[in-house]
Amino acid sequence: MSSFDLRYENYLSAFEAYLSAYADKLVTRPAILGESMKYSLQNGGKRVRPVLALAVAETLELPKEEILPFALALEMIHAYSLVHDDLPAMDNDDFRRGKPSNHKAFGEANAILAGDGLLNEAYALCFNESMKGEKYALAAKFLNECAGVYGMIAGQSADMQFSQSGKEVTEEELAYIYEHKTGKLLLAPVVIAGILSGNKYYLSLERFGKLLGKLFQMTDDILDVTGNFDELGKSVGKDEEENKLTCVRLYGLEGAKIRADMCAADCHAVLEGVEGDTSFLHDLVDFVRTRSK
Ligand code: IPE
Ligand code: IPE
Ligand code: MG
Ligand code: MG
Ligand code: MG
Repeated sequence: MSSFDLRYENYLSAFEAYLSAYADKLVTRPAILGESMKYSLQNGGKRVRPVLALAVAETLELPKEEILPFALALEMIHAYSLVHDDLPAMDNDDFRRGKPSNHKAFGEANAILAGDGLLNEAYALCFNESMKGEKYALAAKFLNECAGVYGMIAGQSADMQFSQSGKEVTEEELAYIYEHKTGKLLLAPVVIAGILSGNKYYLSLERFGKLLGKLFQMTDDILDVTGNFDELGKSVGKDEEENKLTCVRLYGLEGAKIRADMCAADCHAVLEGVEGDTSFLHDLVDFVRTRSK
């Protein structure tokens, strides 16, 4: 196992243990509510956002206990965004992480409510953390901004508007969609670790989070064309089918790959502004660029 894989596994196991302890306590009436929430929360996934949160925390020498509640809240928001993203009224995807998507397993009404539940539970964690003091409240506030109507939800709305409207394809529109629908939830773990560490290297970290978010959606768009179901665990070729604005549509496959390489190079460059052990973060950039799942 490479040292990158080993560290990824370590971050992952710390996160999964924290998540399991939370999930064990999640008992709802009716039971199906909690079951459908857990189905989408404990159903694998790369856990890139929590791993990123833990990695930046370690670079900044912030104890993992400080960041774990925010990492979990963030992953819950990510999970809810996927449950809703897959709904027939949105991307209409039947599979997620190699299994039937939430609405296929539990029906649409339960899927909508599972998403609502995950979002509310995420903020319950944030409220608890906020009571600990100002920097925790600021971290929670930042997560709320990233997830909300000026963040991920705005990006999802723009993505849907574009696919349904037959609007002209522009680079500016693509940049807006990227920055919001995906970028904000990858910016959040980086900046939250920064806030909790007293805003060390704020400008470099903020720039890094934004660029990594852009790279992440670029590779997601590329994999929708070049990837396969077995590795991705989700249907491919959906973006063209659903008339999505993607980097492949705008630049062609080769043009998209070149721009992804350029974006990865920018990620490496901005990391130079951060002191401490950034080797894992550099490797994570390459992982995001070359991933097949
Ligand atoms: C998929 O996110 C949705 C995007 C923002 C591109 P991930 O690729 O992180 O999904 P999981 O959590 O690993 O399944
Ligand atoms: C989803 O983007 C982004 C969010 C859920 C916020 P996509 O629609 O491209 O993600 P996949 O390809 O379904 O995972
Ligand atoms: Mg979508
Ligand atoms: Mg989708
Ligand atoms: Mg996609």
